[in-house]
Amino acid sequence: MIRSVVRGFGAALPKRVMTNKEMESKVDTSDEWIVQRTGIRQRYIAGEGETTASLGESAARAALARADLTADDLDLIIVATSTPDNTFPATAVNIQNRLGMRHGAAFDLQAVCSGFVYAVATADAYIRGGLAKRALVIGAETFSRILDWSDRTTCVLFGDGAGAIILEAREGSGMNADRGVLTAQLRSDGIHGDKLYVDGGPSTTGTVGHLRMEGREVFKHAVGMITDVIEAAFEATGTTADDVDWLVPHQANRRIIDGSAKKLGIPLDKVVVTVDIHGNTSAASIPLALDTAAADGRIKKGDLVMLEAMGGGFTWGSVLIRW
Ligand code: UT7
Repeated sequence: MIRSVVRGFGAALPKRVMTNKEMESKVDTSDEWIVQRTGIRQRYIAGEGETTASLGESAARAALARADLTADDLDLIIVATSTPDNTFPATAVNIQNRLGMRHGAAFDLQAVCSGFVYAVATADAYIRGGLAKRALVIGAETFSRILDWSDRTTCVLFGDGAGAIILEAREGSGMNADRGVLTAQLRSDGIHGDKLYVDGGPSTTGTVGHLRMEGREVFKHAVGMITDVIEAAFEATGTTADDVDWLVPHQANRRIIDGSAKKLGIPLDKVVVTVDIHGNTSAASIPLALDTAAADGRIKKGDLVMLEAMGGGFTWGSVLIRW
């Protein structure tokens, strides 16, 4: 059986850091409120010349270097983003061009904060279905560009960045001991569309719009949805919380991360947390966290790694990978 095995990883952040203290000068908020309610201490904000495509390109180059590959070795690029450089062409095609890749296929995938989980699941399906041999999966965002900087209930939460992994087709035994993606569980329910959305778009207002969120409503659903898809991944593979070496959650709110881990019985020292330094970077948050924990040696080859996310749509999902 073919498995999609992680061959490389990389990340990129804008140059500029914005601390909570600096946020206090923009809206009526405090470092204390932001830390207590979210765990966020700072975020990175894209400056002039830094875009979703440029950050995605940098993350891709880092992943290619780590994998000892060039763009010629890839045949698929998927970019998970809700903040593309342009409505079209896709940011993935833009990055394909920046990397000098003249073959294969590239497309964007939009599932907001669950985008990276959806993109890994999609790349895995392409690889297992024989449509691709080596896929570059990127989560890249510049949410700072769609924030309402006068709305303290949202602007303090989000940040910019990009992360990437390279998945490669390898023969596996079909057992859980195989390296690679072991299962992916995806869900969505559009009935929640009005709880986290952007109030504009090409076909409605002809504008980009700004992010709007009923935070408390999203929060109410988050832990239940996250734990459901993680339990579905356990069931699909016959694994349990005890088998998980690392939980790498979407980084929206420290309270959601801790609540989910507690409900699942995963100890906090097995949870990768970067929300304090990155804020919520939507589709980029999981690959940024993966890069952090794999680069510092926490996540090692052979470790069982659970990814999970929940966000606008609502969309939610989990991916279980043997690293
Ligand atoms: O990534 C996609 C998924 N997104 C999420 O997972 C986000 C989910 N939601 C959350 O993380 C939380 O709901 C928030 C962090 C957004 C808000 O935390 P909360 O504990 O749900 O606070 P709240 O919305 O109930 O607001 C509590 C109070 C309110 O004041 P009153 O009505 O009690 O007087 C808000 O006006 O905090 C006030 N408030 C703020 N105060 C200082 C809201 N934003 C701020 C702020 N600074 N930035």
